Parts: sequence; C-alpha cells; structure tokens
Amino acid sequence: MQTQIIEFLKKNEAYISGEEISQSLKISRAAIWKYMQELRQLGYDIVAVPHLGYKLISSPDKLFPHEIQHALGTKVFGKKIIYEDTVSSTMDVAFRLALEKAAEGTVVCAEGQTKGRGRLGRTWTSPKAKGICMSIVLRPKLSPLEVAKLTLLAAVAVSQALKKITGLQPLIKWPNDLLVKGKKIAGILTELSAETDRVKFVIVGIGLNVNSALNSLPPGATSLKEETQEEHSRIKIFQEILREMEQWYLHVAQEGFFSVVQRWKELSVTLNQRVRVSDANGFVEGLAVDLDNDGGLLIRKDSGLIVKKMAGDVMQAH
Ligand code: BTN
Repeated sequence: MQTQIIEFLKKNEAYISGEEISQSLKISRAAIWKYMQELRQLGYDIVAVPHLGYKLISSPDKLFPHEIQHALGTKVFGKKIIYEDTVSSTMDVAFRLALEKAAEGTVVCAEGQTKGRGRLGRTWTSPKAKGICMSIVLRPKLSPLEVAKLTLLAAVAVSQALKKITGLQPLIKWPNDLLVKGKKIAGILTELSAETDRVKFVIVGIGLNVNSALNSLPPGATSLKEETQEEHSRIKIFQEILREMEQWYLHVAQEGFFSVVQRWKELSVTLNQRVRVSDANGFVEGLAVDLDNDGGLLIRKDSGLIVKKMAGDVMQAH
C-alpha cells in the first residue's frame, strides 16, 4: 500500500485530498495517516495542509524497488528487485535466490555490503548509500566457456548507461573495469553455476561509485561526483543500467555477440597498448592486439607468438 500511495502522490503535482486518496485506494482516512507517517519515517518529505490535503515534496535517495521500477520500462530486468539495507555481498543473496529458482532478470541491491568482493579475490569497498551495488540473475543459453562475453556485455551496458545519464563515457580496461581518466569508477564480477556444457545461471555483479567522496574510496578509484563535481540520482543511473543491460542482452540472444565486441573495442583502453597480464600461473607481456569473439585478449609477445588470455589482471608495460 505504501507503494501505491507514493505512486498516487507522484502522479499529482498539486495537493491531493485525503478523501480522494481514500476513495481511490479504498482505505480509511486513519489508515492513510498511518501510511504517511511510515513513509516519512522512510525519508519521504510529505506535507499535509488542512483543507488541501497531501503533497510529496521529495523522495529519499534510497534504492527502494518501487522507485527503481517507476517508469522503468524493461520487460525482464528488474521485474523483481530485492532490496536490503546491508548484506554481506549482493552476490551471495542473488546466488541463493538463483538456486531457489529466481527468475531471469531478478535483481538484488543493497545500500551497503560488509563483504563486497571483486575479481581475483579482491574486496570491493563502497561507502554506504553512496554507490550502486547490484547483482542480476541471468539464465543464458551459453556454455560455461562463453560466459566471459556476458562480462563484456555488462561493461559496455554500464558505460553506455553512464554516458546517457551523466554525459561521461567511461572506457573499459580488459576485461571489465570501467575507468574515467585512468581511475576506476565501476567494476563487474560474474559468477556462475554450471554443468559440464551448460550454464545453469550466471550472476552479474555491478559495483559503481556514484556520490562517494574520493577519500572514502581505495587508491586509484574515483566516483561520478568527483569527476563531474555534482551529485547524481542513483535511481536514474540504476534504471538506465537495467535498460541498457536488457537491450544488449536481448539483442545478443537474437543476433549474437558481434555488436557487443565491436562496441567493447571502441571503448577499450587496453587494445594497442603494451600490457602485462598476470594470473595465478604467472604473467604474459606483449602488445594487446585484439579481443576475440569469446572475450579473450590476444597478446603478441615480442617473439611474435600470439597468446590468448581469458582472465587475469592487466597492467601497462613498457
Ligand atoms: C571488480 O572490479 O573486481 C568487480 C567488482 C564488483 C563489485 C560488485 S558490487 C555488487 C556485487 N557484490 C559484490 O560483492 N561484488 C559485486
């Protein structure tokens, strides 16, 4: 009912009488009063003027599902959103829900994480209620070897969403770090459950620094606020990420990954650079010459040998 009241208040810019709300939503005036109190507790600024009624002045900057779903316009992504104030990691919650048969497109988001994780066993630090931490459940018809492509898709989708909302177009460091002026603004983590040749589900985790102050972030990181010198609506950005993710995801299901790979290459800061790619087995150094259709990075070593890496950490080499 809270959600319905908020929707109702949003539809009306002017004051709306308790009588009208009561008739439309078929609840008593006393119940409306109680809901208004609850909404105020959640951070909604609602004024009540005798003889005029109620008016919504402002909404809190919280990632409430009904705020995200308001005018979202997607078919699959975000149809179900699970919101928590604090979790260990949205990846854990999404993974558990996926095991319990959560539908494709289910999203888990939280204001804060106590054990946010990144690629290669790293931690992901994000000050509470300042960024976006989300995990999306996907059920693609892919083999486990093809899942790296989804990571590229997410990087392209997030970069495009940020360009649309803020004007800033982050570039991509292979495989999926989003950078602005060389500093990391967002990271993507993909985890999966699979049988030998079939993916059961994939969880795509996205972490984005939105309104965080620079001194609250790890070295080498930045935020949208820092780069644009203004605060941004996390809701608007969240919505655009879901829209872009859905557009690209539905497109590749029909047409394949070609256009994702093309766009990824245009946004890449890694290609045509001398790089050192490290993983658990050591490192490879050379010129990053191309991205292949599986999302692998092709590196030409000084010997001329071309090596393909599917995972690892890229550093610029000299
Ligand atoms: C990386 O850059 O290494 C990936 C970072 C991914 C962070 C996001 S935040 C939401 C989701 N929950 C996590 O614990 N990690 C991902």
